[in-house]
Amino acid sequence: MKQIQMTTNPSFSLISTKKVIQMSDVWSSYDSKNFALEGINLSIDRGTIYSIVGQSGSGKSTLLKLMNGMMVPGKGIIKIDYVTPDMNNKKFKTMMHTIGYIPQSLGLIKNITVLDNILIGALPRLNKIQSLLKKFPENEVKEAKRILQLVGLTGKENRKVYMISGGEKRRVAIARALMQKPTILLADEIVSELDHVTAHEIMDLIIDVQKRTNLTAIMVHHDMQLALEYANRVAVIKDGKKILEIGVEGDNIVDFQTGDMTTEEIMEMYSDDPKK
Ligand SMILES: Nc1ncnc2c1ncn2[C@@H]1O[C@H](COP(=O)(O)OP(=O)(O)OP(=O)(O)O)[C@@H](O)[C@H]1O
Ligand SMILES: [Mg+2]
Repeated sequence: MKQIQMTTNPSFSLISTKKVIQMSDVWSSYDSKNFALEGINLSIDRGTIYSIVGQSGSGKSTLLKLMNGMMVPGKGIIKIDYVTPDMNNKKFKTMMHTIGYIPQSLGLIKNITVLDNILIGALPRLNKIQSLLKKFPENEVKEAKRILQLVGLTGKENRKVYMISGGEKRRVAIARALMQKPTILLADEIVSELDHVTAHEIMDLIIDVQKRTNLTAIMVHHDMQLALEYANRVAVIKDGKKILEIGVEGDNIVDFQTGDMTTEEIMEMYSDDPKK
């Protein structure tokens, strides 16, 4: 039976179903010769953490760009809350303000302050004059400072972004995305190359927000162990194809894609080469 729940965002439809993102036989390419993604099927439940893992060049970032409407598929169907993600789709353009996208390159403005970067997340909420003058109302500045504290950047608000560390830059990008009050977060390798403690701190923060706001977070990772530790489901992408969808249930790793593989078989796949 289809599960119905009220959405917390009044700008969306009044009711929304359990499935928030659906992809059906999606093919995507950057040129006419090669496919970056081939026949992707996936379905993501609202309020869950969904991770995407795979080797470099396997198509992980492309998958996020399709969910964000930055790219449209050559073939197949994508629905975000039953709306097709496409920058030319008016309905999606309204919706995308509440999709927090953190690109692999983070997309920060380096020569402005940490606080000003975070405030960018509130831009869609300003009226035309405020937006033109970049004049943020006091309540938005207060909210930006609250989020700045939440992500552990206290004391760094007036630093220019080029003067902070790599880990701090990631926190700024997360804070900017949270400032959007997102219902969906698309995060491309935001904890890769961070030390174990910082990576876990950032993941714990996202889990906390997810639990409090029913956020759906789709996160690209390099580290399978970290992905399994935090995500409800982990999609494994290889050469543009989704070869597995797994998750932890109790002491077992469960194969949700075919239902055929045992925990031991899945573990074996990753014991030879952790980057597989
Ligand atoms: N702008 C682009 N133009 C042409 N080809 C591209 C472009 N971006 C990515 N590709 C190609 O598409 C394929 C998938 O790339 P994608 O960036 O999605 O991989 P990825 O899994 O995110 O890799 P990484 O882990 O290195 O970030 C690769 O073969 C890549 O070379
Ligand atoms: Mg990538």
